Amino acid sequence: MNSVHDFTRFKAEGRKISVVTAYDAWSARLVARSHVDAILVGDSAAMVMHGHPTTLAATVGLMAVHTSAVARAAAGKLVIADLPFLSFRKGIAAAMTAVGALVTSGAQAVKLEGVDGHEDVVRQIVGSGVPVMGHVGLTPQSIHQFGGFRVQGRNDAGATTLLRQAHALEDLGCFSIVLECVPAELAARITSGLQIPTIGIGAGSGTDGQVLVLHDLWGVDTTHTPRFVRRYIDGECLLTDALNRYNADVKEAEFPRPEESYS
Ligand code: KIV
Repeated sequence: MNSVHDFTRFKAEGRKISVVTAYDAWSARLVARSHVDAILVGDSAAMVMHGHPTTLAATVGLMAVHTSAVARAAAGKLVIADLPFLSFRKGIAAAMTAVGALVTSGAQAVKLEGVDGHEDVVRQIVGSGVPVMGHVGLTPQSIHQFGGFRVQGRNDAGATTLLRQAHALEDLGCFSIVLECVPAELAARITSGLQIPTIGIGAGSGTDGQVLVLHDLWGVDTTHTPRFVRRYIDGECLLTDALNRYNADVKEAEFPRPEESYS
């Protein structure tokens, strides 16, 4: 997949879409060699790469650095970059400056959280020729308003709000929408009512695709493992084991060998 049009085509053909996060060149290179469809340079970089407790610490500058590293190595994959906290909520001019920083860093599309109160910004970005991915449900930039990482849309009012927001984003011209931490039945209902594809995370199997944080999938970030994460390998164990074998080899003068040395 190398364009947002493939998202639309995949939904029309009933093909599921796979997305993972990446924040740096080496992991983007590995994703580029895989069959995964697209890369999200998520503002989760603030947590995964920089150790912050939430995504609120991500800035446009930080996202631009991660986006350009990923874009340089992501040959042939669609690269979507997150607009960080408040960057698109300070008016259209500031939002467009942030979009410019991410697109000139190599993003082909941007993602932003929520819709209420910034419809004009979404319209402006789409109208300027930059594809926008929406994001509703548990939008981590609003974590303090939610009072924690909580499933959204569990009651009737919440479900109605999410349905309305998803349709608003489609009407504003988004090419896709992330549904995060939403009951599976509601996510499926939202998905079947939209023309554009939904990408779920903690939203069950009824969405058009899934997104996972790469470090969760590889099992290399085990600080917090939500229910929706599937660890495909125990990366933390594998990598620690490699370090311990290296350490033992150094201590026992088993590393380096003559063939690993210069004459
Ligand atoms: O920042 C991120 O990684 C995200 C995904 C979890 C959707 O927004």
